[in-house]
Amino acid sequence: MQNNTFPSLFVGQNIVKLKEIDSTNNYLKDLLSNCEPLQEGTVIMADTQFAGRGQRGNVWLSEAGKNLTISILLKPVFLAASQQFELTKVISLGVTDCLTKLLGEDCKVKWPNDIYVKDQKIGGILIENTLKGAFLKDSVVGIGLNVNQNIFADGLKATSVANILQIEYHLNQLLSELCYYIEGRYLQLKANKKDLLYADYMNRLFRFNQLSDFIINHEKVSARIIDVNPNGKLIVSIAGDIQPFDFKEIAFVI
Ligand code: BTN
Repeated sequence: MQNNTFPSLFVGQNIVKLKEIDSTNNYLKDLLSNCEPLQEGTVIMADTQFAGRGQRGNVWLSEAGKNLTISILLKPVFLAASQQFELTKVISLGVTDCLTKLLGEDCKVKWPNDIYVKDQKIGGILIENTLKGAFLKDSVVGIGLNVNQNIFADGLKATSVANILQIEYHLNQLLSELCYYIEGRYLQLKANKKDLLYADYMNRLFRFNQLSDFIINHEKVSARIIDVNPNGKLIVSIAGDIQPFDFKEIAFVI
């Protein structure tokens, strides 16, 4: 465990740095289930994950020592379970605030959990919540960001900070900035600024209000994203017919 001089108040004030682990999310969840007293904002950071996990049961691949693979512990006990998508908004906004500032270009949230620059993925988010009654208890916020990796597997439409800026970026510096921006958005949620978070989230949404192709029921469909509802469903207009979709029911054609 290490104390930091990050500009944030609590996110990233305790950092556990690991050389190699299966998954930082698994590691943090194990600590929690062993009832380790962990302060809110603790960050687990690994040089390498040998079983990094992504959304939809996918694996998260990341070149050793080149990128940020972290899990942050949050304790959003003030948030009802029915409102847990608010946390996804907060983290998506924190990550895109940080990257937009750093890259000097628009960074988008590809619903529900991908971070995109133009048509390429630069990061992903995997949030795993535990509940206590009708409220959230702990949130394990996993974030993978491509930082200094230059080459990606064939067929992956991926990019990195280094590919965009043409410089290597210091991982600790980026972690410090990321913690600061995530904390800022989290404090907005705590202060109940849900309208602001919603408006900013919609502004950051990849392909919002643009006619684009999606795969729905194994078919290519031309549709327009018109909203994301409070439950986190994507609201799409298909030839004027408005329908909600869960993340397993619709895929973007990139
Ligand atoms: C996705 O895009 O599918 C989400 C990727 C999330 C990857 C991060 S890396 C750190 C943390 N530990 C994991 O096993 N996954 C998340």
